[in-house]
Amino acid sequence: MSKTFYIETFGCQMNAHDSEKVIGTLERQGYARVQDEVDAGLILYNTCSIRDKAEQKVFHRLNEYKKMQGEGKRFAVIGCVAQQEGEKIFERAPYVSLVAGSASYRNLPEMLARLEAGETRITGLDDRQTDETFETEFTARSNPHRGYITIIEGCDKFCAYCVVPYTRGKERSRTAASVLVEARKMVDEGFTEIQFLGQNVNSYRDPSGRMSFAELLVAVGELPGIRRVRFTTSHPRHFTRDIVEAIDATPTLCDHIHLPVQSGSSAVLKAMAREYTRDWYLERMSWIKAAKRDISITSDMIVGFPGETDEDFEQTITLLDEVKYDAVFAFKFSPRPNTPAVTMADSIPDEVKTERLRILMDRQREIQREHYGRHLNELQECMVESHNLVRNQVVGRSSQNKTVNFTTAVLDVLPPVGSYLPVRITQTLPNCLVGEAVAAGPDVSDGMFFIPTVRKPQFVVLN
Ligand code: 5AD
Ligand code: SF4
Repeated sequence: MSKTFYIETFGCQMNAHDSEKVIGTLERQGYARVQDEVDAGLILYNTCSIRDKAEQKVFHRLNEYKKMQGEGKRFAVIGCVAQQEGEKIFERAPYVSLVAGSASYRNLPEMLARLEAGETRITGLDDRQTDETFETEFTARSNPHRGYITIIEGCDKFCAYCVVPYTRGKERSRTAASVLVEARKMVDEGFTEIQFLGQNVNSYRDPSGRMSFAELLVAVGELPGIRRVRFTTSHPRHFTRDIVEAIDATPTLCDHIHLPVQSGSSAVLKAMAREYTRDWYLERMSWIKAAKRDISITSDMIVGFPGETDEDFEQTITLLDEVKYDAVFAFKFSPRPNTPAVTMADSIPDEVKTERLRILMDRQREIQREHYGRHLNELQECMVESHNLVRNQVVGRSSQNKTVNFTTAVLDVLPPVGSYLPVRITQTLPNCLVGEAVAAGPDVSDGMFFIPTVRKPQFVVLN
């Protein structure tokens, strides 16, 4: 087998970041990454099983790989479908040599050695046994300016619909000290934005007992050179007031909280085993809304959970009106293997789920159309993400995690990707903001606008 690899990744940010760690580990073991599967000795497929018929998609893809098997290639299925389907993958796709769930990635070097020695049925299926986290100093982050740090792995929540507790193992936090070492190293490498990751990031418990989640956020936010700290995903059950206070007190903590509610009906929340009610959730919303900063709030929602009545669904719609989210990611309920909800009758016909999803998204679009209007004429700090040369615009991201498309007539140079600059918002659309870069100067540090001193200047505004 040639020591070249190709990797394909599906799923959430946790999976994307796992792939960065897997890539770093492979490179450390002497493998070279290639961009075309045709050139690869080892093909890895990092899978997601959160919704839909994920397993079927994986086997479909593996069938395509089958055609390449005579070419001395080896195949590895990793991630959530690997953990979920386990050795069944070998039965259905005998040309696969390695099947590993994310809770076993720390054993990758050893698994790779066995692969190189010619073994053909290597498994890393940890299945809620491990207390260990996957820590590596060789993470190959794909973006040089902003990067993820996993602070907590796994999940112990067992929401009735969710496959994650079965695919990612039990909940385990890293020590605050090791998170800080990684964050400092990233800052030294030039990263200015760090995003903490975890299935329930705010369930974080420092095993050394040194820091709370909010204190860890502040500690990283105070590192010299850091400009933005984000975190995702939070769970309402463990959402504490000190998180809002930390954001209020620390300008580098982004003014955005993703707090998935899943449903506006307390009855459905109970059936989902979410361990909170609508009122409990709304109380957390009131804390966020009482903050001094304008903190954007986003959510995930599921429509058509077993037993969801028209009245339950109506409660979800009224919750949208009450909260006025900045963005909502909504999904039709999809029964997943092993979960309690799979044994509940999937009572809502697909047409009804589709219709509820449409109503929800239409309502939310209207809310955003109106709610984004509050940003008109505001001055927002944007991080440059890319350049849209066709439209002569720069694509940036605000602290609130909104996309801002802006022009830069005032600048003599196109601001590079990863730089930060102040943008005046001139138009608001339901899904993004439009603006015009302004020259940085003393006049722009009004209100909550924040131009911190950076240790490594990213760009110079030329007047
Ligand atoms: N069906 C539909 N949506 C789901 N999610 C998780 N599991 C399911 C499921 N079985 C959604 C939730 C979660 C998001 C990541 O995916 O809204 O917050
Ligand atoms: Fe998909 Fe969930 Fe696994 Fe992420 S944790 S890859 S969303 S199944």
